[in-house]
Amino acid sequence: MSSFVVLGAQWGDEGKGKMTDYLAEKADVVVRFQGGNNAGHTVEVGDKQYKLHLIPSGILYDNKLNVIGNGVVVDPKALFEEIDYLEDLGVKVTPEKLVISDRAQLIMPYHRILDGLKEQARGKNDIGTTKKGIGPCYTDKAERSGIRVCDLMHKEVFEEKLRRNVEDKNEIINLYDGEALDFETIYNEYLGYAERMRAHVADISVRIYDEIKADKNVLFEGAQGSLLDIDYGTYPYVTSSSTVAGGVCTGAGIGPTMINSAVGIAKAYTTRVGKGPFPTELEDEMGELIRQKGHEYGVTTGRARRCGWLDLVILKSTARISGLTSFAVTKIDTLAGIEKIKVCTGYKLDDKVIDYFPASLEDLAKCEPVYEEFDGWDESVADVRSYDELPENAKKYLKRIEEFTGTKISVIGVGPRRDHTIMVDEL
Ligand code: GDP
Ligand code: IMO
Ligand code: MG
Repeated sequence: MSSFVVLGAQWGDEGKGKMTDYLAEKADVVVRFQGGNNAGHTVEVGDKQYKLHLIPSGILYDNKLNVIGNGVVVDPKALFEEIDYLEDLGVKVTPEKLVISDRAQLIMPYHRILDGLKEQARGKNDIGTTKKGIGPCYTDKAERSGIRVCDLMHKEVFEEKLRRNVEDKNEIINLYDGEALDFETIYNEYLGYAERMRAHVADISVRIYDEIKADKNVLFEGAQGSLLDIDYGTYPYVTSSSTVAGGVCTGAGIGPTMINSAVGIAKAYTTRVGKGPFPTELEDEMGELIRQKGHEYGVTTGRARRCGWLDLVILKSTARISGLTSFAVTKIDTLAGIEKIKVCTGYKLDDKVIDYFPASLEDLAKCEPVYEEFDGWDESVADVRSYDELPENAKKYLKRIEEFTGTKISVIGVGPRRDHTIMVDEL
């Protein structure tokens, strides 16, 4: 039996989709345990590109079970649009291949609307959310007024819960000067989704447990990244779920003793979309160069990603919080041709240098990154398939990551395609 977690070690978009797809070859089950369609995971196989938001990245294989866990917030409209998109590309999404937790919370039209209205009301203090309704949906979950997939499966229960929610939410929408929603319209729309969803719905904790007990390999695919975690991220500039390894236990109904390893996906530099602190951000020509070379534009919103140097303080924190057993470093190819590459190894805060991420944004704002400089490499690494063939300077760069974080690198990404990968150490 083996079960392992693949999660984002930075602010998201580290290449989790590509790495999940690559590593899923050896997995039987791929599970999403948090987040929703705020995620945008790109997978390239041969000359085809797939953009996944809600469906696990194991779906491209014919013979894997894909699970949407109870910790995920499911927008049925987005779900069926994604299924139709995949089917159009020739990917089968059958109830045998895709199972959805009966305990997952549903994203409703009022969640999307409130996400937008609240962002607007925050004015210059907006978070820069994806406006997919993620925050308002998790708010309802915590506040205990949410509607779950199992409720949608019971017409009367759904009707009652929806009626109460539409009444309550219309009052709030009214406070923001938004347009009131009509119960009947949402009710009829969601009843259509209920019938389409029914065959996919199951108790996923039972399914995953049975698969692990039957000696199957289970991969838990994280969305977002450690610094967007609701507890350990740059709060309040975070998402509303637990993106760290601990989120797997609650988000998929699996005990910690059943998880064998955790791989942190780290981009060879750092990016962030949306607002919030970013100590190593490059707001100059170098930042623009990295953005262009790395095609750093969001999959879900199309926004330009902010770019900066690799921050080892972040990676060390992630390795600790999620108990990482290794890193997968992606986009090492993007750095080729940059003469001098900097890496942050600490923050100068008042008169000391710290190597952990401070909780307070006020302290963080005072932090000055301490850099080490590395000589770059000119050679393209896109065709390299073994660690030994990498340019010496790239190896030095990677070695420093391992040394500073005390965590080995098991996989290296040298391009977007499934085969653009160097396996350093079998997981
Ligand atoms: P995710 O959200 O973590 O799955 O990452 P995204 O898909 O949002 O963004 C990562 C982008 O980098 C995608 O366009 C991937 O195709 C691409 N990518 C992933 N790994 C590599 C790599 O090693 N090299 C290059 N050049 N691109 C990569
Ligand atoms: P993947 O899985 C990068 C960011 C948003 C915003 C903040 C809150 O592709 O790595 P939300 O809509 O979740 O309430 O927005 O989180 N964010 C992401 N940034 N990658 C993601 O997902 C993200 N999902 C949310 O930009 O700053
Ligand atoms: Mg993404």
